[in-house]
Amino acid sequence: MQITAKPLSSVPFVSVDHMMKLVLGIGVERFLIELAGYIEDDYRRWQDFDKTQRVAAHSPGGVIELMPTSDGRFYSFKYVNGHPKNARSGKQTVAAFCVLADVETGYPVLLSELTILTALRTAAKSAVAARHLAPKGSRTMGMIGNGAQCEFQAIAFKAVPGIDTVRLYDIDPAATEKAVRNLAGSGRKVVPSRSGEAAVEGAQIVTTCTADKQHGTILGDNMIGPGGHINAIGGDCPGKTEVHPDILRRAEIFVEYLPQTRIEGEIQQLATDHPVIELWQVVTGATRGRSGADQIALFDSVGFAIEDFSALRYVHDRITAGPFSERLDLVADPDEPRDLLGMLLRARARNEAAVPARRCNSQERLADVSDE
Ligand SMILES: NC(=O)c1ccc[n+]([C@@H]2O[C@H](COP(=O)([O-])OP(=O)(O)OC[C@H]3O[C@@H](n4cnc5c(N)ncnc54)[C@H](O)[C@@H]3O)[C@@H](O)[C@H]2O)c1
Repeated sequence: MQITAKPLSSVPFVSVDHMMKLVLGIGVERFLIELAGYIEDDYRRWQDFDKTQRVAAHSPGGVIELMPTSDGRFYSFKYVNGHPKNARSGKQTVAAFCVLADVETGYPVLLSELTILTALRTAAKSAVAARHLAPKGSRTMGMIGNGAQCEFQAIAFKAVPGIDTVRLYDIDPAATEKAVRNLAGSGRKVVPSRSGEAAVEGAQIVTTCTADKQHGTILGDNMIGPGGHINAIGGDCPGKTEVHPDILRRAEIFVEYLPQTRIEGEIQQLATDHPVIELWQVVTGATRGRSGADQIALFDSVGFAIEDFSALRYVHDRITAGPFSERLDLVADPDEPRDLLGMLLRARARNEAAVPARRCNSQERLADVSDE
């Protein structure tokens, strides 16, 4: 990664508009493949990172979370919410932004939208997990929950493990229609299903990405036979799960960061000593993936800070060329670092010199003048 040292006070900012241009410029499928590579690289050096479960502020309707991590050279944190009822008022269930900073100076080196990037990183990490855990030669994925994350997941699974047929189900038919429309012409067969059972029947990979703050049974025990891979991404909060506990008891369970997943993942329904494997151990080869063809592998994904770090690292590397960011005057940077008030006073003096004194009142903008 290249970090620009000067000017320190000017931080690249990737807005939603920039992010859309960047993703479309690279191409969604290629973006997902390259991002999956960054995530896998960071999973391989898992031990380099400071890891902590996210700081969550719960409310009856949702959660607001801060997700920090650092590899000692860079530090990142994400602000993200999860509000399942937001869709009813035209808002996203999940919205996010993020900062990447230089550990040596503490100065931010990137500020970015992360709502689109979260969908991309979630899909990319799901595909990384499936590449290591899904049965070889998997071709069909059943997806329950066809909201904002859905199509990114479908595209990532085509791009990485090679799925060519996607079956879709959502309790809201309009969501499925939207996903079918968006995936048209994407090179995969897209089949709307009349029920969750129909979507997952015979599929080698099953993805659950519903949003509802309750212990739901999106996957009942009778829906899952031996030998498949379950990519469970929607159960990511205390009291919010999708998979029946009997499936969990039959499955081999893989997680991102265990202390966080014990609280937030599907395994909150199991005893606290139920055995699970952290995915990085499989990615590095430290431990095996699925133990046999008849085993169910279940990726109990809640979203972990290192994946956002990887996504920011990827975006930072890609925005060096092209119109994909603007510079933000984010950090006050006086010529003499200790003279912060002096910077303000000089700005006022310059402002007063530029504006007749009689018009200089509290309504006028002093901050327009920078300390040069
Ligand atoms: N694990 C992660 O890293 C990660 C990342 C992002 C989002 N998420 C989670 O994924 C979930 C989906 O996120 P989103 O942004 O797509 O939300 P969304 O609100 O856009 O879509 C959710 C969809 O689920 C459908 N749904 C709800 N209950 C259902 C049911 N019983 N059966 C079938 N469909 C049902 C809704 O109709 C809706 O279309 C959320 O719970 C979110 O918190 C997890």
